[in-house]
Amino acid sequence: MSKKADAALHMIDLIRKKRDGGVLDADEIGFIVTGTASGTIPLEQLSAWLMAAWLNGLTIDETRALAVAMRDSGEKFDPSRLGKQAVDKHSTGGVGDKTSFLVAPLAAACGVAVPMISGRALGHTGGTLDKLDSIPGFRSALTLTEFEAVLGQCGAAIVSQTPTLVPADRVLYALRDRTGTVESPGLICASILSKKLAAGLNALVLDVKTGSGAFLRKRANAEYLAALMVATAEAAGTRTVALLTDMGQPLGRTAGNWIEVAECVELLRGEMPEESSDLRELSLRLAGWMIHLGGGTKTADQGYWAAAGALADGTALKLFLEMVKAQGGDLAVFDDLKVSHKPGATQELKAWKSGYVAAMDTMELGWAVQRLGAGREKAGEPVDPNAGIEFHAKRGARVEGGQPFATLYATNETMLAEPVERIKRAITFSDEPPETVPLVSHIFAREDAEAYLRDAIR
Ligand code: URA
Repeated sequence: MSKKADAALHMIDLIRKKRDGGVLDADEIGFIVTGTASGTIPLEQLSAWLMAAWLNGLTIDETRALAVAMRDSGEKFDPSRLGKQAVDKHSTGGVGDKTSFLVAPLAAACGVAVPMISGRALGHTGGTLDKLDSIPGFRSALTLTEFEAVLGQCGAAIVSQTPTLVPADRVLYALRDRTGTVESPGLICASILSKKLAAGLNALVLDVKTGSGAFLRKRANAEYLAALMVATAEAAGTRTVALLTDMGQPLGRTAGNWIEVAECVELLRGEMPEESSDLRELSLRLAGWMIHLGGGTKTADQGYWAAAGALADGTALKLFLEMVKAQGGDLAVFDDLKVSHKPGATQELKAWKSGYVAAMDTMELGWAVQRLGAGREKAGEPVDPNAGIEFHAKRGARVEGGQPFATLYATNETMLAEPVERIKRAITFSDEPPETVPLVSHIFAREDAEAYLRDAIR
């Protein structure tokens, strides 16, 4: 509770201050967060404040104060009784970004505990929890006692914010999704770190996306976000690294809800379609860092190979299935991945030109996925578990006109037309193969991040 909270703070004054370019102190931010969690600040005032923060930005100090206040807006998880290092990964959001389903069991198989608090679809990006909801019976809104029990049994658990666990993020996250206020470094940083710090982590690996499907498309902005998050998490006592990774095309072969879970299960079973190779590689890199930071290996490279071993010998698959079962999921859904996929309408989109796939406007593709029914128009709406897109060609592939390019899955026929047009707009073909883009282009650790921020504010 902020010192000024009992005195005369008024939300309207804080909206106007932020709107006019002012800087809020920790007490003022605390007042907003407390009122968000308790529901005493109306949503229209929160929306106005979010837009003012989006337009004028948050300073580093405001961002830190917001992250800490949001962390403290509800109860916190204490992983110390698990007797293992608690390490997690979080992504800044992407299209087909499903590494959580792989890194959680991979890292758990190598001896670290993974208490993961995740989110739902945000803007053009998919949500881990919406994808998990496509498994019949799966429950992500666990109590802290249930969270600890699943972690004790399986080494990993994936849960949601709740009215008692990071409640301020629960409200602000859903509101940002509906008010066009997602793409702000300060708001993204505070949202992600509030969840991660509330989980009591010893260490954290951040997957900061850059490129056409990232919230912050420009590399310089993504670098700033990475540095801001690493420095903020380290200042709060959590050892953190951030990998700057490519979101210039969807990750893996699928983007949607059930189809993303199914792609991960295929990988865990050892199947390896070419279009899934970036997903496999990035998941091993992220899990490698998690295992290393959790003390399992001396280097992140060794962590990578430990994770690759857990993938190859089936340990990660076994843990994933145990986790799903422990959270109420019906494992029968995995008997036949294709039979379990029941879209209302399907359309195969054939390549409308010949050439190399030179570039993909991945944000546009993300909106296509959401409009097929995978995302929501209004807060709290259900999403279609079967909606999504399967890509048969990715950047760099040579395609001939008329060959299958993508398969679209929608709730009904009428929802197919707009996404088809979006996909066509999103793809650029060329006569020559495009240059390859590295999957991981930079790694920020603490010193790197602090130096970057010092330079940025100079
Ligand atoms: N993930 C989050 O949890 N919050 C954001 O703002 C973006 C990605």
